[in-house]
Amino acid sequence: MISNTSHPEPPVSSELPRRSADAVRFTAVIGYPLAHSISPRFQQPAFDHLGLPVRYIARETPPEELPAFLTELRGPQWLGVNVTVPHKEAVAAAVDDLSTEARLIGAVNTVRKEGGRLIGHNTDAAGFLRGLTDAACDPQGVSALILGAGGAARAVAVALLQAGARHVTVANRTVSRAERLVANLAASFDAAHLAAGPLQAEVVRPALQGAELVINTTTVGMAHGPAAAAAPLAAALLTSLPRDALVYDLVYNPAETPLLQAARAQGYRTQGGLPMLIYQGAASFELWTGQPAPVELMLAHGRQAMAERE
Ligand SMILES: NC(=O)c1ccc[n+]([C@@H]2O[C@H](COP(=O)([O-])OP(=O)(O)OC[C@H]3O[C@@H](n4cnc5c(N)ncnc54)[C@H](OP(=O)(O)O)[C@@H]3O)[C@@H](O)[C@H]2O)c1
Repeated sequence: MISNTSHPEPPVSSELPRRSADAVRFTAVIGYPLAHSISPRFQQPAFDHLGLPVRYIARETPPEELPAFLTELRGPQWLGVNVTVPHKEAVAAAVDDLSTEARLIGAVNTVRKEGGRLIGHNTDAAGFLRGLTDAACDPQGVSALILGAGGAARAVAVALLQAGARHVTVANRTVSRAERLVANLAASFDAAHLAAGPLQAEVVRPALQGAELVINTTTVGMAHGPAAAAAPLAAALLTSLPRDALVYDLVYNPAETPLLQAARAQGYRTQGGLPMLIYQGAASFELWTGQPAPVELMLAHGRQAMAERE
């Protein structure tokens, strides 16, 4: 079993400038490519709202430039950084220490600086759980089916298992990836029932029949992705799901994915990916500043940014 060794957070970051007369500090989202990121659209208003002299920028970082950026990040002008695809695993390997979640997930989406040291965190797990709470789904004792086995699936699985999920099945197009994920999880969560299989009807149907929660963590249904108009499950398969189950799609562009459309049409409760995106960002904000994030304001700005895209 895992031990809880998370780092106690000081109440207010010592890296944070206190007055607007102080030198501006920077935070950023790094990734490659980055054109899709709306993080600056909801993070900057949060810093502005609290009157903090911090600028949040999108810093497109090709993989070959990552080592130089991480050196730069140690400089006093940087407060911390958000990390997105494809750097989450590489940053986890490069920082000075990891939070419990980041270690279990094997990926970092937030770097917080503590006295010049880079500490890697993963706030996707907390963001996912907060979205679940919004949808009135208690993960304690739940049976869940996760579609996909990439980075987001790892964060979702760790979040669910830390929160006491009873049964987690991972179904993925590439079955070996699902099996690897489940084998890794089994090393840390030996009390839960874990299963892996291909994203095919004969595996998915029985898992759906016993599930209270289905989460799409694949890129299927994502605008501009390779399968934008598709759903990861055939609509006819969804009928196997109990009537009171929740269908949660991590894809946030579009807000209403083909999977969510099909689920809603059949009367299921649904949750989209935008709240999780905002909540993981709010958790990053709190790690950097030690202050409560203005979550409603961030949500409003996030919704506005997405509405302008659709
Ligand atoms: N809302 C949020 O805050 C949030 C946070 C993180 C991620 N996300 C979203 O979650 C999604 C996944 O992100 P990720 O970082 O996990 O990506 P990733 O590591 O690249 O994993 C992609 C997953 O999608 C599957 N996939 C891709 N194309 C497929 C297809 N045509 N049919 C079936 N499966 C397919 C892959 O299966 P194979 O293994 O077979 O390739 C893999 O399981 C993205 O849409 C991302 O925007 C949202």
